[in-house]
Amino acid sequence: MEREVAQLIPVDPFDLIIFGGAGDLALRKLLPALYHRHRDGQIPPGSRIIAVGRSAISREEYVAEAALAVEAAGEGIGPDVWETFTARLDYLDLDADDHAGWGPLSERLKGHENKIRIVYLATPPHLFGRVARGFQANSLMVADMRIVLEKPVGDDYASARAINDEVGACFAENQIFRIDHYLGKETVQNLLALRFANSLFEPLWRREVVDHVQITVAEELGVGNRVGFYDRIGALRDMVQNHLLQLVCLVAMEPPASLDDDAVRDEKLKVLRALEPITAANVGSSTVRAQYTAGAISGKAVPGYVDELGGATDTETFVALKLGIDNWRWSGVPFYLRTGKRLPAKHSEIVIQFRPVPHPLFGNASGDAAPNRLSIMLQPDEGVRLAIMAKEPGPGGFELRPVSLDLSFEETFGIRYPDAYERLLIEVMRGNPALFMRRDEIETAWRWIDDIIAGWAEARQKVDAYVAGSWGPTASSLLLDRDGRHWIAGQ
Ligand code: BG6
Repeated sequence: MEREVAQLIPVDPFDLIIFGGAGDLALRKLLPALYHRHRDGQIPPGSRIIAVGRSAISREEYVAEAALAVEAAGEGIGPDVWETFTARLDYLDLDADDHAGWGPLSERLKGHENKIRIVYLATPPHLFGRVARGFQANSLMVADMRIVLEKPVGDDYASARAINDEVGACFAENQIFRIDHYLGKETVQNLLALRFANSLFEPLWRREVVDHVQITVAEELGVGNRVGFYDRIGALRDMVQNHLLQLVCLVAMEPPASLDDDAVRDEKLKVLRALEPITAANVGSSTVRAQYTAGAISGKAVPGYVDELGGATDTETFVALKLGIDNWRWSGVPFYLRTGKRLPAKHSEIVIQFRPVPHPLFGNASGDAAPNRLSIMLQPDEGVRLAIMAKEPGPGGFELRPVSLDLSFEETFGIRYPDAYERLLIEVMRGNPALFMRRDEIETAWRWIDDIIAGWAEARQKVDAYVAGSWGPTASSLLLDRDGRHWIAGQ
């Protein structure tokens, strides 16, 4: 049976001003998340949500759009709850570039200086600095001020730095919350619990015992209506720079001394700094980039990327990488990463593959003693699976068989998994930046990614093709074959 989210952390009254308030992210993710937190009684009285957008629509029209969006997000809206929710909701059209246009927002905020004021930028990144400056220039900064930056923060190191400088000129680092929504996912946080709330795994979490690590983030969806944006970005920037590298950090980091914001982020930063560079010299042997062609997923025909875009391009919709972490714990242990659009299923999984036993005690005739493997399933079926060897039941001989210890979080906890944005919004309201990316993390990740992109250009690395609905190009399998390994997730 489904239970509701167990713990409600109290937060103080706030004004949340969402720029890009009528955009896709705000409607699809932020409003449903806020509605759920409101419905569960977690949004304190006196709090307001002011959506700001460029469309000249009325508050009533906006509320009607919001109702459709929240309903489309899955759960119906209860009329009473909806009424109290929309009583908090306001809409303003504002052009961030037009100084005079800030008047109505200033008006709305007057007299609310004692509350927490949160500016949420669900806009393209070129507006981040302008909006931050707008708050300063219009004297809208209050004592408890926070700003939330949606991804992407830049599209390379230089642009990320420029954005961080601009926003940093108006807000202190501990007031800036850079979102990577993977950090708000329950199962990603469970990774911390698995590693650091159990004494079982930590002694094994090292090069002497671990053969290699695999991280797969597969998506069934294509690029949809974001094709224009996506074509400038590609899978490496869209997924690896942030989500996959954050997962690498959580798997590989040393135990932090506490869960305080900087304690965790310091450890993650050390991992990013220890990543072996991938440059023109090794990009060919360490990376695969590819683009989907027309194919079928779950029996349904889907077009190729070029058809969706309406022209040829060498943007990758799939990327696979082999990376090394140059430190005491992980030296020599490859981390294989892959992510792509139009793969056979939405499936994200981290696999820790342990080394084989040192001595084949049971002999070859008794069946293969497969090395142990820990799989952490992130989505859609969240859980943990440990593959161990067992003796096949029976009186004759000694046959071994791999069996798995399975833990499904859904079955165990029977709980509705809150969307990542619910948690992240609450963490902003609580003023806890631990689940957000610090400036140095983002910039270090971009430097590493920039080397790969420069390496691709210098080495003229070609973009392979893969059929939509497959697990990527042959080159992706070969990346592991060469090391005598194979991809495990989804096979
Ligand atoms: C976003 C990317 O950050 O993450 C999208 O920009 C991608 O391209 C999405 O589809 C995947 O998120 P999730 O939560 O569905 O795994």
